[in-house]
Amino acid sequence: MVNAGTTGRARWLKRILWALVGLALVIVGTLGTGHMLAERKRQRHIDVAVSDVPARSDAASVARGAYLYASRGCTDCHGADGAGKLFIDEPNGLRVRGANITPAAGSAVATYQGVDWVRTIRHGVKPDGRPALVMPSEDYNRFTDDDLAALVAYLRQLPARAGPAAEVRMPLIVELLYAFGMVPDAAERIDHTLPPSQPVAEAVTPEHGAYVATMCIGCHGPQFSGGRIPGSPPDWPAAANLTPGEGSAMLRYATAEQFRAMLASGQRPDGAAISGVMPFTSLRAMNQIDADALYLYLRQLPPVASGSR
Ligand code: HEC
Ligand code: HEC
Repeated sequence: MVNAGTTGRARWLKRILWALVGLALVIVGTLGTGHMLAERKRQRHIDVAVSDVPARSDAASVARGAYLYASRGCTDCHGADGAGKLFIDEPNGLRVRGANITPAAGSAVATYQGVDWVRTIRHGVKPDGRPALVMPSEDYNRFTDDDLAALVAYLRQLPARAGPAAEVRMPLIVELLYAFGMVPDAAERIDHTLPPSQPVAEAVTPEHGAYVATMCIGCHGPQFSGGRIPGSPPDWPAAANLTPGEGSAMLRYATAEQFRAMLASGQRPDGAAISGVMPFTSLRAMNQIDADALYLYLRQLPPVASGSR
Protein backbone atom coordinates (compact mmCIF):
# COMPACT_ATOMS: atom_id res chain seq x y z
CA MET A 1 0.00 0.00 0.00
CA VAL A 2 2.69 2.42 1.07
CA ASN A 3 4.66 1.62 -2.07
CA ALA A 4 1.70 2.17 -4.41
CA GLY A 5 1.03 5.56 -2.76
CA THR A 6 4.63 6.65 -3.23
CA THR A 7 4.61 5.68 -6.92
CA GLY A 8 1.32 7.52 -7.37
CA ARG A 9 2.78 10.66 -5.85
CA ALA A 10 5.97 10.28 -7.86
CA ARG A 11 3.93 9.97 -11.05
CA TRP A 12 2.03 13.16 -10.18
CA LEU A 13 5.21 14.97 -9.31
CA LYS A 14 6.67 13.93 -12.66
CA ARG A 15 3.58 15.21 -14.51
CA ILE A 16 3.74 18.52 -12.71
CA LEU A 17 7.44 18.81 -13.51
CA TRP A 18 6.79 18.11 -17.18
CA ALA A 19 3.97 20.63 -17.20
CA LEU A 20 6.34 23.21 -15.70
CA VAL A 21 9.04 22.38 -18.25
CA GLY A 22 6.39 22.74 -20.98
CA LEU A 23 5.26 26.08 -19.59
CA ALA A 24 8.87 27.31 -19.36
CA LEU A 25 9.40 26.29 -22.99
CA VAL A 26 6.25 28.15 -24.04
CA ILE A 27 7.43 31.26 -22.16
CA VAL A 28 10.94 31.10 -23.58
CA GLY A 29 9.43 30.45 -27.00
CA THR A 30 7.08 33.44 -26.71
CA LEU A 31 9.89 35.72 -25.53
CA GLY A 32 12.18 34.49 -28.30
CA THR A 33 9.47 34.84 -30.94
CA GLY A 34 8.53 38.26 -29.55
CA HIS A 35 12.13 39.43 -29.77
CA MET A 36 12.38 38.09 -33.33
CA LEU A 37 9.07 39.66 -34.38
CA ALA A 38 10.06 43.00 -32.83
CA GLU A 39 13.35 42.90 -34.72
CA ARG A 40 11.52 42.04 -37.94
CA LYS A 41 9.09 44.89 -37.35
CA ARG A 42 11.94 47.35 -36.77
CA GLN A 43 13.55 46.22 -40.04
CA ARG A 44 10.35 46.24 -42.11
CA HIS A 45 10.15 48.36 -45.23
CA ILE A 46 7.35 50.96 -45.29
CA ASP A 47 6.28 52.38 -48.61
CA VAL A 48 4.77 55.86 -48.36
CA ALA A 49 4.01 58.31 -51.11
CA VAL A 50 5.89 61.45 -50.07
CA SER A 51 5.30 64.82 -51.66
CA ASP A 52 8.12 67.30 -51.33
CA VAL A 53 7.77 70.71 -49.67
CA PRO A 54 9.33 73.86 -51.19
CA ALA A 55 13.07 74.28 -50.50
CA ARG A 56 13.55 77.53 -48.57
CA SER A 57 16.52 79.33 -47.07
CA ASP A 58 15.19 82.89 -46.54
CA ALA A 59 15.60 84.48 -43.11
CA ALA A 60 11.88 84.47 -42.28
CA SER A 61 11.61 80.73 -42.95
CA VAL A 62 14.74 79.96 -40.92
CA ALA A 63 13.36 82.04 -38.02
CA ARG A 64 9.98 80.28 -38.16
CA GLY A 65 11.81 76.92 -38.33
CA ALA A 66 13.93 77.83 -35.30
CA TYR A 67 10.76 78.63 -33.37
CA LEU A 68 9.11 75.35 -34.36
CA TYR A 69 12.25 73.38 -33.50
CA ALA A 70 12.42 74.99 -30.07
CA SER A 71 8.71 74.84 -29.21
CA ARG A 72 7.42 71.58 -30.75
CA GLY A 73 9.50 69.04 -28.85
CA CYS A 74 12.53 68.55 -31.11
CA THR A 75 14.88 70.18 -28.56
CA ASP A 76 13.82 67.74 -25.85
CA CYS A 77 15.16 64.75 -27.81
CA HIS A 78 17.70 66.22 -30.25
CA GLY A 79 19.19 68.95 -28.03
CA ALA A 80 19.19 72.70 -28.62
CA ASP A 81 22.10 72.31 -31.06
CA GLY A 82 20.62 69.27 -32.87
CA ALA A 83 23.52 66.95 -31.96
CA GLY A 84 21.19 64.45 -30.24
CA LYS A 85 20.38 63.86 -26.61
CA LEU A 86 19.97 60.89 -24.29
CA PHE A 87 16.45 61.49 -23.01
CA ILE A 88 15.42 58.13 -21.52
CA ASP A 89 17.83 56.00 -19.50
CA GLU A 90 15.79 53.74 -17.24
CA PRO A 91 17.02 51.01 -14.89
CA ASN A 92 14.65 48.53 -16.66
CA GLY A 93 16.75 48.77 -19.83
CA LEU A 94 14.80 51.37 -21.81
CA ARG A 95 17.39 53.72 -23.25
CA VAL A 96 16.69 56.22 -26.01
CA ARG A 97 18.91 58.82 -27.61
CA GLY A 98 17.68 61.15 -30.35
CA ALA A 99 19.74 61.22 -33.55
CA ASN A 100 22.35 63.83 -34.45
CA ILE A 101 20.42 65.85 -37.03
CA THR A 102 23.12 68.42 -37.80
CA PRO A 103 24.84 68.19 -41.20
CA ALA A 104 28.03 66.67 -39.71
CA ALA A 105 29.69 63.90 -41.74
CA GLY A 106 28.18 60.58 -40.68
CA SER A 107 25.14 62.10 -38.94
CA ALA A 108 21.67 60.64 -39.51
CA VAL A 109 20.89 63.38 -42.03
CA ALA A 110 24.32 63.80 -43.71
CA THR A 111 23.00 62.50 -47.03
CA TYR A 112 19.39 63.70 -46.72
CA GLN A 113 17.67 65.04 -49.84
CA GLY A 114 14.64 67.35 -49.52
CA VAL A 115 12.08 64.60 -49.62
CA ASP A 116 13.90 62.56 -46.94
CA TRP A 117 13.14 65.27 -44.36
CA VAL A 118 9.45 65.09 -45.21
CA ARG A 119 9.39 61.28 -45.04
CA THR A 120 11.01 61.23 -41.58
CA ILE A 121 9.27 64.16 -39.94
CA ARG A 122 5.79 63.79 -41.43
CA HIS A 123 5.57 60.02 -41.89
CA GLY A 124 7.99 58.52 -39.33
CA VAL A 125 9.84 56.61 -42.04
CA LYS A 126 13.60 56.84 -42.58
CA PRO A 127 15.19 57.13 -46.06
CA ASP A 128 15.85 53.37 -46.13
CA GLY A 129 12.12 52.71 -45.56
CA ARG A 130 12.46 51.57 -41.95
CA PRO A 131 10.33 53.13 -39.17
CA ALA A 132 11.80 55.85 -36.95
CA LEU A 133 11.28 54.59 -33.41
CA VAL A 134 10.06 56.61 -30.42
CA MET A 135 10.10 59.85 -32.44
CA PRO A 136 6.47 61.09 -32.32
CA SER A 137 5.98 61.80 -36.04
CA GLU A 138 2.22 61.46 -35.50
CA ASP A 139 2.53 64.81 -33.71
CA TYR A 140 4.25 66.31 -36.76
CA ASN A 141 2.18 64.74 -39.52
CA ARG A 142 -0.21 67.70 -39.40
CA PHE A 143 2.42 70.40 -40.09
CA THR A 144 1.42 72.58 -43.03
CA ASP A 145 3.77 72.52 -46.02
CA ASP A 146 4.95 76.03 -45.09
CA ASP A 147 5.82 75.06 -41.51
CA LEU A 148 7.56 71.87 -42.58
CA ALA A 149 9.52 73.81 -45.21
CA ALA A 150 10.53 76.35 -42.52
CA LEU A 151 11.62 73.59 -40.13
CA VAL A 152 13.75 71.97 -42.84
CA ALA A 153 15.21 75.39 -43.79
CA TYR A 154 16.30 75.81 -40.17
CA LEU A 155 17.69 72.28 -39.80
CA ARG A 156 19.73 72.50 -43.00
CA GLN A 157 21.62 75.57 -41.84
CA LEU A 158 22.49 74.19 -38.38
CA PRO A 159 26.24 74.19 -37.74
CA ALA A 160 27.67 70.65 -37.96
CA ARG A 161 28.19 69.12 -34.52
CA ALA A 162 29.64 65.80 -33.45
CA GLY A 163 27.20 63.51 -31.64
CA PRO A 164 26.79 59.79 -31.01
CA ALA A 165 24.41 57.74 -33.16
CA ALA A 166 20.75 57.39 -32.18
CA GLU A 167 19.98 54.61 -29.74
CA VAL A 168 16.67 52.85 -29.14
CA ARG A 169 17.09 50.02 -26.65
CA MET A 170 13.88 48.41 -25.40
CA PRO A 171 13.47 46.01 -22.47
CA LEU A 172 12.00 42.63 -23.47
CA ILE A 173 8.54 43.54 -22.20
CA VAL A 174 8.38 46.63 -24.43
CA GLU A 175 9.72 44.55 -27.34
CA LEU A 176 6.86 42.09 -26.80
CA LEU A 177 4.29 44.90 -26.66
CA TYR A 178 5.82 46.35 -29.82
CA ALA A 179 5.94 42.97 -31.59
CA PHE A 180 2.30 42.23 -30.83
CA GLY A 181 1.02 45.68 -31.78
CA MET A 182 0.20 46.99 -28.29
CA VAL A 183 2.82 49.74 -28.66
CA PRO A 184 2.60 50.86 -32.28
CA ASP A 185 5.34 53.00 -33.81
CA ALA A 186 4.47 56.39 -35.30
CA ALA A 187 4.39 55.08 -38.87
CA GLU A 188 1.64 52.64 -37.82
CA ARG A 189 -0.41 55.35 -36.12
CA ILE A 190 -0.27 57.82 -38.98
CA ASP A 191 -2.84 57.91 -41.75
CA HIS A 192 -0.32 58.40 -44.56
CA THR A 193 -3.04 59.31 -47.05
CA LEU A 194 -4.16 62.48 -45.22
CA PRO A 195 -3.26 65.63 -47.15
CA PRO A 196 -1.19 68.21 -45.18
CA SER A 197 -3.12 70.69 -43.00
CA GLN A 198 -4.21 73.87 -44.70
CA PRO A 199 -2.78 77.00 -43.07
CA VAL A 200 -5.02 78.86 -40.61
CA ALA A 201 -4.31 82.42 -39.47
CA GLU A 202 -1.93 82.57 -36.52
CA ALA A 203 -4.30 84.04 -33.95
CA VAL A 204 -5.94 83.26 -30.62
CA THR A 205 -8.67 81.09 -32.12
CA PRO A 206 -9.71 77.48 -31.46
CA GLU A 207 -8.77 76.67 -35.09
CA HIS A 208 -5.17 77.75 -34.58
CA GLY A 209 -5.19 76.09 -31.14
CA ALA A 210 -6.23 72.80 -32.75
CA TYR A 211 -3.22 73.09 -35.05
CA VAL A 212 -0.80 73.70 -32.16
CA ALA A 213 -2.39 70.88 -30.13
CA THR A 214 -1.38 68.28 -32.69
CA MET A 215 1.98 68.15 -30.87
CA CYS A 216 0.27 66.88 -27.71
CA ILE A 217 -1.43 63.85 -29.32
CA GLY A 218 1.43 61.32 -29.00
CA CYS A 219 1.24 61.53 -25.19
CA HIS A 220 -2.28 62.80 -24.47
CA GLY A 221 -3.98 60.69 -27.16
CA PRO A 222 -5.96 61.69 -30.25
CA GLN A 223 -8.93 62.68 -28.10
CA PHE A 224 -6.71 64.50 -25.54
CA SER A 225 -8.17 62.37 -22.74
CA GLY A 226 -4.72 61.28 -21.48
CA GLY A 227 -4.02 57.94 -19.83
CA ARG A 228 -0.89 55.81 -19.76
CA ILE A 229 1.51 56.61 -22.60
CA PRO A 230 1.88 53.35 -24.58
CA GLY A 231 5.30 51.76 -24.04
CA SER A 232 6.34 54.29 -21.41
CA PRO A 233 8.49 53.29 -18.42
CA PRO A 234 6.47 52.12 -15.39
CA ASP A 235 7.47 55.15 -13.31
CA TRP A 236 6.03 57.65 -15.80
CA PRO A 237 2.73 59.12 -14.65
CA ALA A 238 -0.31 58.81 -16.91
CA ALA A 239 -0.80 61.80 -19.18
CA ALA A 240 -3.50 64.15 -17.89
CA ASN A 241 -7.01 64.43 -19.29
CA LEU A 242 -7.04 67.73 -21.23
CA THR A 243 -10.77 67.56 -22.02
CA PRO A 244 -13.33 68.90 -19.53
CA GLY A 245 -14.37 65.27 -18.85
CA GLU A 246 -14.10 63.26 -15.63
CA GLY A 247 -10.68 63.68 -14.01
CA SER A 248 -9.84 66.72 -16.15
CA ALA A 249 -6.60 68.57 -15.34
CA MET A 250 -7.93 71.68 -17.08
CA LEU A 251 -10.18 72.49 -14.10
CA ARG A 252 -7.01 73.77 -12.43
CA TYR A 253 -6.62 76.42 -15.12
CA ALA A 254 -9.39 78.99 -14.85
CA THR A 255 -7.59 81.55 -17.00
CA ALA A 256 -5.27 81.58 -20.01
CA GLU A 257 -2.66 83.34 -17.82
CA GLN A 258 -2.58 80.40 -15.40
CA PHE A 259 -2.23 77.97 -18.28
CA ARG A 260 0.60 79.99 -19.84
CA ALA A 261 2.35 80.22 -16.47
CA MET A 262 2.16 76.40 -16.20
CA LEU A 263 3.78 75.92 -19.63
CA ALA A 264 6.55 78.35 -18.66
CA SER A 265 7.22 77.08 -15.13
CA GLY A 266 6.34 73.37 -15.15
CA GLN A 267 4.20 74.01 -12.07
CA ARG A 268 0.51 73.88 -11.27
CA PRO A 269 -1.20 77.05 -9.98
CA ASP A 270 -0.69 75.75 -6.40
CA GLY A 271 3.07 75.53 -7.01
CA ALA A 272 3.23 71.70 -7.24
CA ALA A 273 5.74 70.44 -9.83
CA ILE A 274 4.40 68.61 -12.91
CA SER A 275 6.35 65.56 -14.10
CA GLY A 276 9.32 66.29 -16.36
CA VAL A 277 7.81 63.79 -18.83
CA MET A 278 5.95 66.85 -20.14
CA PRO A 279 8.48 68.42 -22.55
CA PHE A 280 8.80 71.73 -20.69
CA THR A 281 12.07 72.67 -22.40
CA SER A 282 9.91 73.05 -25.52
CA LEU A 283 6.65 74.22 -23.97
CA ARG A 284 8.52 77.05 -22.26
CA ALA A 285 9.50 78.36 -25.70
CA MET A 286 5.90 78.58 -26.92
CA ASN A 287 4.80 82.12 -27.82
CA GLN A 288 1.71 83.75 -26.32
CA ILE A 289 -0.49 83.38 -29.41
CA ASP A 290 0.18 79.64 -29.61
CA ALA A 291 -0.29 79.13 -25.85
CA ASP A 292 -3.53 81.15 -25.64
CA ALA A 293 -4.96 79.52 -28.77
CA LEU A 294 -4.11 76.11 -27.31
CA TYR A 295 -5.93 77.02 -24.10
CA LEU A 296 -9.00 78.20 -26.01
CA TYR A 297 -9.06 75.01 -28.06
CA LEU A 298 -8.67 72.65 -25.09
CA ARG A 299 -11.45 74.46 -23.19
CA GLN A 300 -14.01 73.79 -25.90
CA LEU A 301 -13.21 70.09 -26.41
CA PRO A 302 -16.08 67.68 -25.81
CA PRO A 303 -15.72 66.03 -22.39
CA VAL A 304 -14.14 62.56 -22.53
CA ALA A 305 -13.38 60.35 -19.50
CA SER A 306 -9.67 60.07 -18.58
CA GLY A 307 -7.66 57.55 -20.52
CA SER A 308 -10.14 56.64 -23.26
CA ARG A 309 -7.70 56.69 -26.18
C1 HEC B 1 10.46 61.96 -28.11
C2 HEC B 1 11.72 62.20 -28.74
C3 HEC B 1 11.82 62.84 -30.10
C4 HEC B 1 11.22 64.01 -30.53
C5 HEC B 1 10.28 64.89 -29.77
C6 HEC B 1 11.72 64.22 -31.86
N1 HEC B 1 12.57 63.22 -32.23
FE1 HEC B 1 13.54 63.04 -34.03
N2 HEC B 1 14.30 61.25 -33.41
C7 HEC B 1 14.14 60.68 -32.18
C8 HEC B 1 14.81 59.38 -32.15
C9 HEC B 1 14.87 58.43 -30.97
C10 HEC B 1 15.39 59.21 -33.43
C11 HEC B 1 16.13 57.96 -33.92
C12 HEC B 1 15.08 57.05 -34.51
C13 HEC B 1 15.58 55.76 -35.04
O1 HEC B 1 16.72 55.70 -35.52
O2 HEC B 1 14.78 54.82 -35.07
C14 HEC B 1 15.06 60.39 -34.19
C15 HEC B 1 15.46 60.62 -35.51
C16 HEC B 1 15.25 61.79 -36.21
C17 HEC B 1 15.77 62.05 -37.54
C18 HEC B 1 16.69 61.13 -38.33
C19 HEC B 1 16.02 59.87 -38.84
C20 HEC B 1 17.02 59.00 -39.62
O3 HEC B 1 17.05 59.10 -40.85
O4 HEC B 1 17.77 58.24 -38.98
C21 HEC B 1 15.34 63.32 -37.89
C22 HEC B 1 15.61 64.03 -39.18
C23 HEC B 1 14.57 63.83 -36.79
N3 HEC B 1 14.53 62.88 -35.78
C24 HEC B 1 13.99 65.09 -36.75
C25 HEC B 1 13.17 65.54 -35.70
C26 HEC B 1 12.49 66.84 -35.71
C27 HEC B 1 12.64 67.89 -36.78
C28 HEC B 1 11.74 66.90 -34.57
C29 HEC B 1 10.79 67.98 -34.13
C30 HEC B 1 9.78 68.41 -35.09
C31 HEC B 1 11.96 65.65 -33.84
N4 HEC B 1 12.84 64.87 -34.56
C32 HEC B 1 11.38 65.34 -32.63
C33 HEC B 1 13.43 61.21 -31.12
C34 HEC B 1 12.66 62.35 -31.18
C1 HEC C 1 6.14 63.45 -23.88
C2 HEC C 1 4.77 63.38 -23.44
C3 HEC C 1 3.92 64.62 -23.33
C4 HEC C 1 3.73 65.60 -24.27
C5 HEC C 1 4.32 65.72 -25.67
C6 HEC C 1 2.78 66.53 -23.67
N1 HEC C 1 2.45 66.13 -22.40
FE1 HEC C 1 1.17 67.08 -21.12
N2 HEC C 1 1.54 65.69 -19.70
C7 HEC C 1 2.30 64.55 -19.88
C8 HEC C 1 2.28 63.78 -18.64
C9 HEC C 1 2.98 62.46 -18.40
C10 HEC C 1 1.49 64.51 -17.73
C11 HEC C 1 1.18 64.16 -16.28
C12 HEC C 1 2.16 64.88 -15.42
C13 HEC C 1 1.97 64.65 -13.93
O1 HEC C 1 1.01 63.98 -13.55
O2 HEC C 1 2.81 65.19 -13.17
C14 HEC C 1 1.04 65.69 -18.44
C15 HEC C 1 0.23 66.68 -17.86
C16 HEC C 1 -0.30 67.74 -18.53
C17 HEC C 1 -1.21 68.72 -17.96
C18 HEC C 1 -1.72 68.73 -16.52
C19 HEC C 1 -0.89 69.60 -15.64
C20 HEC C 1 -1.41 69.54 -14.22
O3 HEC C 1 -2.02 70.54 -13.79
O4 HEC C 1 -1.24 68.51 -13.58
C21 HEC C 1 -1.54 69.61 -18.93
C22 HEC C 1 -2.48 70.79 -18.81
C23 HEC C 1 -0.84 69.20 -20.12
N3 HEC C 1 -0.08 68.06 -19.85
C24 HEC C 1 -0.90 69.83 -21.34
C25 HEC C 1 -0.16 69.46 -22.45
C26 HEC C 1 -0.23 70.15 -23.72
C27 HEC C 1 -1.17 71.29 -24.02
C28 HEC C 1 0.67 69.56 -24.56
C29 HEC C 1 1.01 69.92 -25.98
C30 HEC C 1 1.33 71.31 -26.22
C31 HEC C 1 1.31 68.48 -23.81
N4 HEC C 1 0.77 68.45 -22.55
C32 HEC C 1 2.30 67.66 -24.32
C33 HEC C 1 2.99 64.20 -21.02
C34 HEC C 1 3.10 64.95 -22.17
